[in-house]
Amino acid sequence: MYTATTAVKGATKTETEGSRTKQKEYQLIKLKNTWCCVENEEEIGKTWNEDKMIISQAKIGETITESGVSWTVKTPIYFCYKVIETQNLLDPNNMTLLYGHVSDPQEVEVYKKKIQKRLVVMDITVEKLYGSKIRKYFEANNIIYKILALETMEETKSMELVLTILEEVHKFGIDRRTEPIIAIGGGVCLDIVGLAASLYRRRTPYIRVPTTLLSYVDASVGAKNGVNFCNCKNKLGSYTPPAATFLDRSFIKTIPRRHISNGLGEILKMALMKHRGLFELLESHGKYLLDTKFQSRNGLASHGDAALTTTRLAIQTMLEELAPNLWEDDLERLVDFGHVISPELEMKVLPALMHGEAVNIDMALMTYVSYESGLITAEEKNRTIQCMITLELPVWHKDCNLPLIKKALGERFKHSGGKLRLPLPTGLGSAEIFNDVNEETMKRAFEKWTEECQELAT
Ligand SMILES: NC(=O)c1ccc[n+]([C@@H]2O[C@H](COP(=O)([O-])OP(=O)(O)OC[C@H]3O[C@@H](n4cnc5c(N)ncnc54)[C@H](O)[C@@H]3O)[C@@H](O)[C@H]2O)c1
Repeated sequence: MYTATTAVKGATKTETEGSRTKQKEYQLIKLKNTWCCVENEEEIGKTWNEDKMIISQAKIGETITESGVSWTVKTPIYFCYKVIETQNLLDPNNMTLLYGHVSDPQEVEVYKKKIQKRLVVMDITVEKLYGSKIRKYFEANNIIYKILALETMEETKSMELVLTILEEVHKFGIDRRTEPIIAIGGGVCLDIVGLAASLYRRRTPYIRVPTTLLSYVDASVGAKNGVNFCNCKNKLGSYTPPAATFLDRSFIKTIPRRHISNGLGEILKMALMKHRGLFELLESHGKYLLDTKFQSRNGLASHGDAALTTTRLAIQTMLEELAPNLWEDDLERLVDFGHVISPELEMKVLPALMHGEAVNIDMALMTYVSYESGLITAEEKNRTIQCMITLELPVWHKDCNLPLIKKALGERFKHSGGKLRLPLPTGLGSAEIFNDVNEETMKRAFEKWTEECQELAT
């Protein structure tokens, strides 16, 4: 018995003599509005004019056995989305909010000639602060708009709010191709709107405008959205990136100081995992960033443009990790640092801890796991915890106890293919994924963490 494989431009054939199994892989071409399978290169050349056809990247495999035929569809799904820094997003002369997601300037001119409609979903606090400016923006640009102000909080992050949004989208009526839904708010608002948009007519484009630091550097950047379900964090959701994210740091000036720390937690995650320079920036300028709420454009001489550099590095490092793994097919993800125990902790004590705070408590514990595993030195551990304190982040929590840790690790184990994949720092700004951390190490780390950090808890 032998297997012969012939690869040609159109199809790949494998015939296994003896077993009577025939396998073929077809290319797909479109000509005159119809797609068809093509078996080989000669057929393409002979039958059709190559200039007039579209060749798809999709392929159909066919396996013929004695018991029947099976087809395998392989089709790459392509997404393109933009993350754009801008200033004065709500200045009526700034066209970013309306057309920043469109790449082709000629297309923009076509849109401008039509009456445009926009449905804007906003966090209710954000609406109180910025609603009148947003209304003026749309009115100055002759846009038909509707603002839907919702109480988007972790406690209300549910399918009910998704359905409320969908009903409004349906009543308002938008051109699905050209009139994206706009979400303006913190991570909760962006996550809920993202899920609603992914469901409406199976996928409707949407825009994210983050207004908290955490959503600016994290929730805005990737493809994920979601809502809580059955008391589990983000249990329902999808991987549907926005058409674009527009970043205007000036929104951050109205968030409370605690929320700045909350966002700094996610920035610190990227620093600890992959960028020592970012970690050192946070060490030296963290307090200044908190005091100035990321508003200084040039900063004090000694701080340079710390706000701009910090946010840019956080986003760039995040995009590097997310872009090649948008659908999280690869489960070995450094961005999961701080997200191993924190989902259970955050939901258990809701609303006592904000997302970035729960993430930080998890990171503090994992810093001790790393130390107990011999991956970082005592000095590196102490500098990490000290930096967290400078950023006014909690480093310990009484509800993060051994039973909760065990439960959370069990959940992660279940959802990552029967392997516990722990991202752990191996230095300041470097990390690896480990799947051999045992119960004994975890217990030792927990005890040392409690001994050293309990009294630092705020
Ligand atoms: N999709 C993702 O990839 C991703 C990544 C990280 C976090 N998240 C999600 O993000 C959520 C946390 O986001 P968050 O920290 O932004 O919390 P949030 O959305 O709850 O906002 C926090 C609070 O800030 C208020 N607020 C928002 N903007 C304001 C402004 N400019 N001025 C004054 N107040 C303002 C809101 O009213 C809210 O009460 C979590 O649900 C988390 O799961 C998602």
